[in-house]
Amino acid sequence: MFANRVDQIQPFRVMEVLERAAYHEALGRRVVHLEVGEPDFETAAPIVAAGQQALREGKTKYTPATGIPELRRAIVGHYKKMGVTVNEEQIVVTSGASGGLTLLAALLLNPGDELLITDPGYPCNEVFTRLAGGVPVTMAVNANQKFQPTAAGVEMHWQQRTKGVLLASPANPTGTMLAADTLEEIARSVRQRGGFFILDEIYQGLTIEAPYQTGLQISQDLYVLNSFSKFFGMTGWRLGWLVVPQPAIEAITKLAQNLFISPSTPAQYAALAAFTPAAMAIHDARAATFVARAELLAQGLLKLGFSIPVRPEGAFYLYVDVSHTGLAARDFCWRLLDEFQVATTPGEDFGQHMHERFVRFAYTTDEASIQVGLQRIEQALQAWGVV
Ligand SMILES: Cc1ncc(COP(=O)(O)O)c(C=O)c1O
Repeated sequence: MFANRVDQIQPFRVMEVLERAAYHEALGRRVVHLEVGEPDFETAAPIVAAGQQALREGKTKYTPATGIPELRRAIVGHYKKMGVTVNEEQIVVTSGASGGLTLLAALLLNPGDELLITDPGYPCNEVFTRLAGGVPVTMAVNANQKFQPTAAGVEMHWQQRTKGVLLASPANPTGTMLAADTLEEIARSVRQRGGFFILDEIYQGLTIEAPYQTGLQISQDLYVLNSFSKFFGMTGWRLGWLVVPQPAIEAITKLAQNLFISPSTPAQYAALAAFTPAAMAIHDARAATFVARAELLAQGLLKLGFSIPVRPEGAFYLYVDVSHTGLAARDFCWRLLDEFQVATTPGEDFGQHMHERFVRFAYTTDEASIQVGLQRIEQALQAWGVV
């Protein structure tokens, strides 16, 4: 009855974890949430105020498909502060990075074309690829390469039907960044093969020690994917943007017009305030909070015998090896949730490669809750006879 592609799609397992957590909460139990991939902070007040004002002023009609000029200019200014010059026409405002991924898949993939992605990686990338008839090809990435591919790895996977590569820096679920020289080498190699390179920078700004702020500082012909969801704390507003190379502007504009008409109008006016000094001060303070939480959670887990093979450089995730517990990651997550009400995400949500060893811990909850979570994990390890 439904299209074949639906059978190829895995459910987003973190959603099942969230449902199970809600079940425990309905029974009056406190759940420590270390599974959620969105900031726990509410959208910064200046953004909310700008959104409310936009609604009061009746800014509720369609906008140009690629976004209001003021917001595109503000995004150009955002890059200018990083020393990067992009034109307003290269900015496409989208319905979240998810809208951006839909557009890029439609723009760049013909049926049967292969797109290289990482395993582990953001699970939805596969689905966007398939929706355009493309074939996702996973590159297994390991801790000894910071869970990022090398240029040689990309070249090894590049076949007749390969059209491009999609990488994230910082990445989900590992929080690691592509080294600047690796990014440059991959960009060069992809260019030589006549392919495209999509760089997902949705965790831009949420970095601990960033080797660069945007890949555009290193290579200008990238397709950059970004969002107001994470650093700007606007997940539910559903707004993101792309930076596309000059030759793609006309084609992607046509697609945006037809697929989305325009991104959310009130969200765009709200986002104008996201770049103001008052809002940026709030975002920067929050980013610093995430850094402190990362340290607290990492130290606590290491003390309990967990291994964190690569410390993240950004995002808000630790990718943790739980094999010393003797449990497969999936069992570890479900038992931790059901028996001790600590919610985490099993590695299987992010791919196949070594997924039974790894669990993603998100530090999207406050320090007091992280402490409670660590205490409960210690109790769990004791109860399971691990320590
Ligand atoms: C790596 C990555 N890319 C893209 C997205 C999509 O984000 P949004 O559509 O909220 O902008 C996410 C969401 O978690 C993500 O982790």
